[in-house]
Amino acid sequence: MIDHSDEDVGNIVLLEHVNVQVPDQAVAMMFYIVGMGFTRDPYLNIGLGNMWANVGEQQFHLPTRPAQAIDGHIGVVVPDLDALKNRLAAVKEGLTGTQFRWSVEADHLAVTCPWGNRFQCYPAGPAFGDMALGIPYVEFLVAPGRAAGIARFYDQVMGAPSAIESDAQGTLGRVQVGRNQSLIFRETEKPVRDYDGHHIAIYVANFSRPYAFLKKRGLVSEDVQNHQFRFKEVVDPDSDRCVFLVEHEVRSLRHPMFRRFLVNRDPAQTQRGYRRERDAFIPYS
Ligand SMILES: [Fe+2]
Repeated sequence: MIDHSDEDVGNIVLLEHVNVQVPDQAVAMMFYIVGMGFTRDPYLNIGLGNMWANVGEQQFHLPTRPAQAIDGHIGVVVPDLDALKNRLAAVKEGLTGTQFRWSVEADHLAVTCPWGNRFQCYPAGPAFGDMALGIPYVEFLVAPGRAAGIARFYDQVMGAPSAIESDAQGTLGRVQVGRNQSLIFRETEKPVRDYDGHHIAIYVANFSRPYAFLKKRGLVSEDVQNHQFRFKEVVDPDSDRCVFLVEHEVRSLRHPMFRRFLVNRDPAQTQRGYRRERDAFIPYS
């Protein structure tokens, strides 16, 4: 009998944004908007203190502060890898002297932002469901032996189906998010960098159960206000031992920004080759 469990969606229904500080908004604009082709949110944080960059149904939040970088990489789905290559080539000169670089890999484009965040950019396809533009996953590097405890945390505490997998590079914990996203925790023998304060924002259907678990253990780092709370410590529920650090902004589905419509432009639109009524990009295939 087919159990149809592939139709199930776990308790984390959306990974909405990744927040990494950037020290220079002009350089961030050149990389995220001009190079990567994302769209500056036209409504919120439109000054020099922060920029929100829309990527389909996801966002990067980029406050102006000392740089932060995730130890791992961020998956990105784009509609056209060749167009991305051309845009990255066009910003190369403007980003000289930063950590910006990119290379063509077997099935993706590997891109490093001016401050060391790494992206793997894939063309839209069946592996990503109907996502034509977006952030399908974030992959964090973790110390050896940590993936199982991390997966137990997301499975048992957050209510998100999680499993341990292995591939050519080793062991990883995969946490299912929403219809077509995941959080990945990949074990590495290399030293893992100290956590520098970046965060991710997720929406959960059941809010009170993870909150109660974390509150009871003194792990809520910012208490509930405006339908959200924050925590940083991922603990193995078998031992209550901290197995990973990353701030989570946890929002209920009653948060006013849940599934907020995000403006996306088609970066292929140009002044010279202008096509009428094609300014917007619909981020689904
Ligand atoms: Fe945030």
